[in-house]
Amino acid sequence: MPDSPVVLAATNIRKRFGKTPVLDDVSIEVRAGEVVALLGASGSGKTTLLRVAGGLERPDAGRVVLGTATVFDNSEGIDVPAEGRNLGFVFQSYALWPHMTVAANVGYGLRLRRIPEVEREAHVDRTLDRLGLTGLGGRYPHELSGGQQQRVALARALVYEPPVILLDEPLSNLDANLRESARSWLRETISTLGLSAVFVTHDQVEALAIADRVVLLHGGRVEQAGTPTELYGAPRTLYGATFLGSASTIPVSVAGDRSAAQAQVSAGGTAFVASRRAEASLGNDATVVIRVECVRVLDGDATPPPGGTVLDLVVRTSLYLGERWEHAFTLGGATLRAWGGSPLVAGRTYRVWVPIDGAWAF
Ligand SMILES: Nc1ncnc2c1ncn2[C@@H]1O[C@H](COP(=O)(O)OP(=O)(O)O)[C@@H](O)[C@H]1O
Ligand SMILES: [Mg+2]
Repeated sequence: MPDSPVVLAATNIRKRFGKTPVLDDVSIEVRAGEVVALLGASGSGKTTLLRVAGGLERPDAGRVVLGTATVFDNSEGIDVPAEGRNLGFVFQSYALWPHMTVAANVGYGLRLRRIPEVEREAHVDRTLDRLGLTGLGGRYPHELSGGQQQRVALARALVYEPPVILLDEPLSNLDANLRESARSWLRETISTLGLSAVFVTHDQVEALAIADRVVLLHGGRVEQAGTPTELYGAPRTLYGATFLGSASTIPVSVAGDRSAAQAQVSAGGTAFVASRRAEASLGNDATVVIRVECVRVLDGDATPPPGGTVLDLVVRTSLYLGERWEHAFTLGGATLRAWGGSPLVAGRTYRVWVPIDGAWAF
């Protein structure tokens, strides 16, 4: 995929609503066959960027290229409207027309494009087949389940075989169980059909699961872009480290240098070793982020694995989460969380192992 041609590039996009910059020099690129997730908190600019790419929103500056065609460039005065960009949209509210059958909903875009009826029907039938909706063309939206409506919305975006589909939080209307199965169905469909897509979501798990690459937006800027494993496993900023995954955030002072990459830190007098992710320099305050799954509570006098620090910490509570327990230990003035298979005794001290490469100092 890194060698596939670029099907969509939005470069140096700037957009303000009034005085507020909503997109501040943002660039994204989608290659053929690739799913790029735009991930970010509510208000980070995801929808605006998607609408800019699709021609529904006019940026103040930047350039949008589809394949080899420039469809927006403010310096050259180019602005091809949405209809001329031929991208497939799937919105959060599926926006199916309730009074039209599934076939009419799916074929609507083709009718607007004045495709003759016979050809249109063939296209619609083929698209319904591809999405596992064979035989449902005569139904009305209210006669379908939430998951089926979701598929119809995707069918409607795919029917004219757009080079890229743009999906804006397409799963957020589904309830939790359906959402998980829809997520894997969507990922599978996108790869089986060889589609290229931009997938907007505020849900980190969804972004990691569905995308080949993730672009994390924060306040209208790209915080970090990379593969899901890069974003999850090697965040470059404190924001990125806390946005993805479940982690404890521990304020520390940097007490010593172990090496260029490792620092001795202290949280209210409790010392441990952390890896430097930024310029956490001697004598300064820093923040250490520790993912919950990295921390281990050691049994009795078990030998700790190499590459970490063993801390004697008091547990305050153990929460039952169903498939596991989550323990809250006091570390300095903060809470260090860890997972385990059984509850611990509140108020008792346990030996807790914190890996150096899982304790990130920013
Ligand atoms: N048409 C608009 N007029 C004014 N402000 C807007 C408009 N659309 C979006 N915004 C603002 O731009 C910011 C980004 O919005 P949006 O792109 O919808 O974010 P997201 O999809 O990440 O939640 C928000 O602060 C939002 O209030
Ligand atoms: Mg949005």
